Amino acid sequence: MKAMWAGRFSKAIAKETNDFNSSLRFDKALAAEDIKGSLAHAAMLAATGIISPEDADKISVGLTSILADLESGKLSFDGSDAEDIHMFVEEKLTERIGDAGKRLHTARSRNDQVALDTRMYAMEKNEEIRAALIRLLEVLLELSAANKETIMPGYTHLQRAQPVSFAFHLMAYFQMFSRDIERLEEASKRASSLPLGACALAGTGFPIDRRMTASALGFEKVGPNAMDSVSDRDFCLDLAYCCSLLMMHLSRFSEEIILWTSWEFKFLELDDAYSTGSSIMPQKKNSDIAELVRGKTGRVYGDLTALLTVMKGLPLAYNKDMQEDKEALFDAVDTVLQCLPVFTSMLATATVLKDNMYKAAGGGFINATDCADYLAAKGTPFRSAYKTTGEIVARCISEGKTLETLPLETYKSFSPLFENDIYEAVDLKRCMEKRNSEGGTGTASVSAQIESGKEFVKAHALD
Ligand code: ARG
Repeated sequence: MKAMWAGRFSKAIAKETNDFNSSLRFDKALAAEDIKGSLAHAAMLAATGIISPEDADKISVGLTSILADLESGKLSFDGSDAEDIHMFVEEKLTERIGDAGKRLHTARSRNDQVALDTRMYAMEKNEEIRAALIRLLEVLLELSAANKETIMPGYTHLQRAQPVSFAFHLMAYFQMFSRDIERLEEASKRASSLPLGACALAGTGFPIDRRMTASALGFEKVGPNAMDSVSDRDFCLDLAYCCSLLMMHLSRFSEEIILWTSWEFKFLELDDAYSTGSSIMPQKKNSDIAELVRGKTGRVYGDLTALLTVMKGLPLAYNKDMQEDKEALFDAVDTVLQCLPVFTSMLATATVLKDNMYKAAGGGFINATDCADYLAAKGTPFRSAYKTTGEIVARCISEGKTLETLPLETYKSFSPLFENDIYEAVDLKRCMEKRNSEGGTGTASVSAQIESGKEFVKAHALD
């Protein structure tokens, strides 16, 4: 085969070399970005008088027809020996419009072209991920609104700690995913720096207008240093990091869903449509979606690590190593976009087993802090109140009682300050409801969290 650079070479490229070198099998995913970028570039070249308006028109018609034919399936990548998507499009263009097609690459290099395409891809996918996250936030708000009074144990060390509402627990996840949205927005802003016009590495002597291309393509600014523009892949890493953190959040949530749907907890039952059975054990209902999300988190971390490692030793500016950025980035993005919608549907359709949550909250002395607070409020120093409560809990355990069922005389034998209102003080619902410090689990506090959550969704929703 004859390479595009055959002029400089006296021998044809080995098929093996081309197969090894070629990125078309994966960077074909950038076809639309590549063509949109080229359309803007051609328009700028014509506006600045670098190519004629007639050539620009031909280029525009040719590129538009290539995109349409790729979308309809009339044109395919099969059998092409093009080195990458950029060469593929240029070859097709020249086949279709002749010499004008050969002018498109004026004042451009594949180095700035690939950086442009990848940035455009990163910005589009960033938005898609945010849209999927907004849907998850909406489901969390709906579920929370319906579960402000649903009492469950809050855990530390996976030991029952204090009573909380299920809404409060869900709103903790709301916070994590809303930070993911903010982080993605920041990443998108940083990605929005136009590399095109950097050319190979040093800019060009042609009188190009980079600001025109930037505004045509919706970039906020023009990359200020050409060498950086072609060698920077921070925007891939930003997105891969956003994906990794988001997967870590999904994975923690998945872990809880796996626990909550176990026979030991039974806090949640997944809809049949979003769980699976076993091929041998008829009683089983498995949380495969949550397990897979948890499992796929590892591959996204792997993508981030791969990207970091590819970049760490590269001298400026472009090196072919950077072709390896795409599969990692695509995989991270595809995985997140695969996980988010199905996870959201699984959550939206699950049944909350409120009675079981309440029962679990009742069994583990999770109102012991409230008993100590009771004594402290009546003047006992908190440390002494804490110690006394510990002794009361030990007594309850030895007598098979709970703080709710221990007789008043027994309470009084520990401290004369105990009165009948101790039963109100250790009532689970009251314990949960009264924690209305800002950010607390109390109903008023959680209602406020839900309200500001709704504001967040409104402010960050995409149209
Ligand atoms: N396929 C290449 C990549 O993905 C495009 C840039 C090639 N540039 C070059 N000078 N070989 O990185």
